[in-house]
Amino acid sequence: MARKGYKGGRSVQKIVPTAKIDKMKLHVWMVVAAVVAGGWARVVPLEQAPYVRSAVAPALDPRAGSYADAVESALHNRIARHVRPDYSPLAKRQAAADSGAITDFGSSPPQPVRGSKGASFLHGSNTDIDRQNVDYLSPPPTDAGTVPNLKWAFSLSKSKLLNGGWVREQVVTDLPASKEVAAAEQRLAPYAYRELHWHRVAEWGLVLNGTVRITANDEDDRNYVADANKGDLWSFPRGVPHTLQAGPEGAQYLLVFDDGDFDASGTTFAVDDWIAHTPRDVLAENFGWNSSAFNSVPAADPYIVPAAQGETWLTIEEARKQVEANPAGEVDSPYVYRLSQQNKTQAPGGGGWVKVTDYRTFAASPTLASAYVHVEKGGLRELHWHKNAEWGYILKGKARATAFAGGATARTFDLQQGDTWVFPTNYGHYIQNVGDEELEFVEIFRAPNFGDKVKFDDFSLSQWLALVPPSVAAKQLNVSQHLVEQLSTKKQIIVAQA
Ligand SMILES: *[C@@H]1O[C@H](CO)[C@@H](O)[C@H](O)[C@H]1NC(C)=O
Ligand SMILES: *[C@@H]1O[C@H](CO)[C@@H](O)[C@H](O)[C@H]1NC(C)=O
Ligand SMILES: *[C@@H]1O[C@H](CO)[C@@H](O)[C@H](O)[C@H]1NC(C)=O
Ligand SMILES: *[C@@H]1O[C@H](CO)[C@@H](O)[C@H](O)[C@H]1NC(C)=O
Repeated sequence: MARKGYKGGRSVQKIVPTAKIDKMKLHVWMVVAAVVAGGWARVVPLEQAPYVRSAVAPALDPRAGSYADAVESALHNRIARHVRPDYSPLAKRQAAADSGAITDFGSSPPQPVRGSKGASFLHGSNTDIDRQNVDYLSPPPTDAGTVPNLKWAFSLSKSKLLNGGWVREQVVTDLPASKEVAAAEQRLAPYAYRELHWHRVAEWGLVLNGTVRITANDEDDRNYVADANKGDLWSFPRGVPHTLQAGPEGAQYLLVFDDGDFDASGTTFAVDDWIAHTPRDVLAENFGWNSSAFNSVPAADPYIVPAAQGETWLTIEEARKQVEANPAGEVDSPYVYRLSQQNKTQAPGGGGWVKVTDYRTFAASPTLASAYVHVEKGGLRELHWHKNAEWGYILKGKARATAFAGGATARTFDLQQGDTWVFPTNYGHYIQNVGDEELEFVEIFRAPNFGDKVKFDDFSLSQWLALVPPSVAAKQLNVSQHLVEQLSTKKQIIVAQA
């Protein structure tokens, strides 16, 4: 695969600057510092400290302002080392020898072991979960510090089983880092429909399989009916009342909402629920009906309404007659977007394609932007970041991603079909296809302020390095200028396997 100038760039990260060690001076200052800190009795040569596994003194931090600062920092590291990663030169050398690749435990249960570090379980573990999250047990040596959980599997959500389908949600109490976005997977049996309702928040949908007929109307008397097929999107701006009905084969879809606290009171408003909680004389007056008409209204919110016996499915032309008869006409921005028909944008890096949508292409979805990403086997969604938090969902395949949280902290996650993640605003990350097949996922973005318009954006690390003066990038990374000059000034988006 022709990807000139990129392969060279990939070797950049292997060259790690190592600090110089001055053991003699260190020992002198250790003694002085230890006396000040607590007397001779506490002086233990570094090599003998029980929690120091390497027999080598720690490197002094070359960024420390003075030599005394460097010693203090070394002492601090020594004390803290039993709870923090080992930064000793030996550990650094081991880390340099470790490519960082996912540990292969074969058919044996994964263990909390990497190279010479860790030790096997003496009491066992939840092996099924461990197998899916090998990078929690055996993280790459580049992971560091405390990064909170950024992953949620829909398989850990409780399913709400209903007549005619089911739903399972991911809300802010499941994944607290996802403040901007909540989501749900929903399934409807053939012809079943999600009852009439509206939300305080906007709803974005992606059809995973089957056909969904949507109906809605806006605040300006206009209405809308359309069918969304597999791979198509819909969006209901907040407040817009809507229904979803599955076609003859049933349907499954992903729902995304532009607020993480989706289960909060005052978020979803269902018609049956409202009717059941309004005095009947008021209803009778409101609709001009005899109040006995409300005797059979469901008392509890049914959520999904199963198909009736002999349910008929109107052709879309028949269904649209109601819209055509409306003197106010159809809504000005269609609520369905035919993503399945949008041309793929091939990634310049050669590793796959993307389909991006935001208000510029899908006007009915001003508050949620998306990218549908397809990564070929072995490909890599390049190192990048966004102005806004990224919420993601694996459609198929297996991925590995590291969230770089700044402040020398990073955490690697393993993801597979049905898993979701969130990378808070500006976190650096990549998403690598580590499975035996294509990887597909969606990235979703919301602006920091609820209700604001959002444009899809991303910053590419490789492009950035290609766009600064080569001498600057070369000096920063301590690599030859020749390597830096090979980087492409074009965003690679997805890089093909080398
Ligand atoms: C840069 O790399 C060289 C080895 O290629 C090494 O000797 C030198 O110490 C490094 N410089 C820094 C600042 O890490
Ligand atoms: C999609 O639904 C059809 C039935 O309509 C089923 O045969 C097919 O296996 C489903 N696809 C996936 C990926 O499950
Ligand atoms: C409402 O319906 C009931 C039962 O059908 C009937 O007895 C009653 O007269 C009706 N009331 C009015 C105001 O039409
Ligand atoms: C999609 O690509 C085809 C050619 O592959 C082109 O004819 C068509 O105009 C493109 N559509 C859009 C909307 O760009």
